[in-house]
Amino acid sequence: MPLRGRFTPPGDKSVSHRLVLLALLAKGDMLVRGLSDCDDVASSLRCFRALGGKAAEEQDGIRITGLARAWPAMPGSGEIDLDCGNSGTTMRLLTGILAGAPGRYVLTGDAQLSRRPMERVAEPLRLMGARVSTVAGKPPVTIEGGTVSSVDYHLKDASAQVKGAVLMAGMSANDAGPTIVTERAATRAHTERLVDFFKGRVQVDGLRISVWPGTLELSERFLAPSDPSSAAFFLAGAAIIPDSRVTAENILLSPGRTGFLRVLDRMGANVSITLTSDTPEPVGEATVEFSGALKGVEIAPEEIPSMIDEVPVLALAATQAQGRTVFRKVDELRIKETDRLMSIRHQLGALGARIKVEGDDLVVEGPTSFIIPATLDSGSDHRLAMTLSMALQAAKAKIPITGSESISISYPGFHAQLESLCRG
Ligand code: S3P
Repeated sequence: MPLRGRFTPPGDKSVSHRLVLLALLAKGDMLVRGLSDCDDVASSLRCFRALGGKAAEEQDGIRITGLARAWPAMPGSGEIDLDCGNSGTTMRLLTGILAGAPGRYVLTGDAQLSRRPMERVAEPLRLMGARVSTVAGKPPVTIEGGTVSSVDYHLKDASAQVKGAVLMAGMSANDAGPTIVTERAATRAHTERLVDFFKGRVQVDGLRISVWPGTLELSERFLAPSDPSSAAFFLAGAAIIPDSRVTAENILLSPGRTGFLRVLDRMGANVSITLTSDTPEPVGEATVEFSGALKGVEIAPEEIPSMIDEVPVLALAATQAQGRTVFRKVDELRIKETDRLMSIRHQLGALGARIKVEGDDLVVEGPTSFIIPATLDSGSDHRLAMTLSMALQAAKAKIPITGSESISISYPGFHAQLESLCRG
């Protein structure tokens, strides 16, 4: 069945995390409309409240009151436990923020998060003088907060989470700063854009971002843009399902997030974009219409960060394109909620896709006629589960997808939205 219509995805997850967590370093209060209702952002809110932050539901949004570093007194045990649930972004950004806070904090996560690497944030923070420890590189992360000093750090991985953690720690440096982070490839710029929007001192020179210590000031109101990474499932779905035409409204259109739209366009889908506002980041609508003429494309390593969460659904689109699609250097996918390279290969492979991992590259040969197995397994990876749902939609098949309850990690309303777009 084709996907047709206009829809508004939930609030952007990356921006929502930062609105909540940056409030720990900010004064004032702010009414946020459109904060993501997903489980991951609920984890950031839970930690924010456990640290003494106030976030109150109101009729037209959630009122967030800045903590302005009024860190809580330590309880009897002398430490504060913070449950980050499944959210890697919560854990990594919070580690940066708490590096400069007095007290002892233990950051834990669920079984999936407990397998993910945390040294990538611990290492630069130690260079700043922070006392951060992991258990063999993984959670729990223990922070014996105190003082940190500014650092000039070159990121080893193209990771917006690590960049954000170091910049947020730099905001509490006990010297005049700046803390400078140089990226290997441009990643989503939400931390620096929001620090600037909340009147922090930040400077961006190409891949080099500098931040100076200080307290932020929340804006009175903030309208969270919708999540392009959630929109991507339906937009990519429209590219492969005949007669489809889907418009995602009010989505974030920052270049660091829209690599998937550029790739769909290069593949030959009909893509159109309209910008409606630009502060603090570009927002607008994107439409994808089925063209019936997708072709394979080559995606360069430096493009990957701008579509890091969309590779699974783009790989699905590539199974319906004529010829070979190569995603170059996608090894970061090995350390997402699952080893996404393997999950993509096995699960799209189970649907008949000709797909392989060559070194750190993902290679898809299209087009594929789907074959339908008895079940699929998302490995409880939300982005895989939504990709597989879209594949079944394209294949006009209904089979169980194990672990699809994980979809609420980023998009609780996904199934309802799918039904509504199918009704047209
Ligand atoms: C995110 C950055 C990306 C992305 C994740 C959210 C963020 O992770 O995969 O879903 O909000 O900063 P990395 O920075 O580790 O690549």
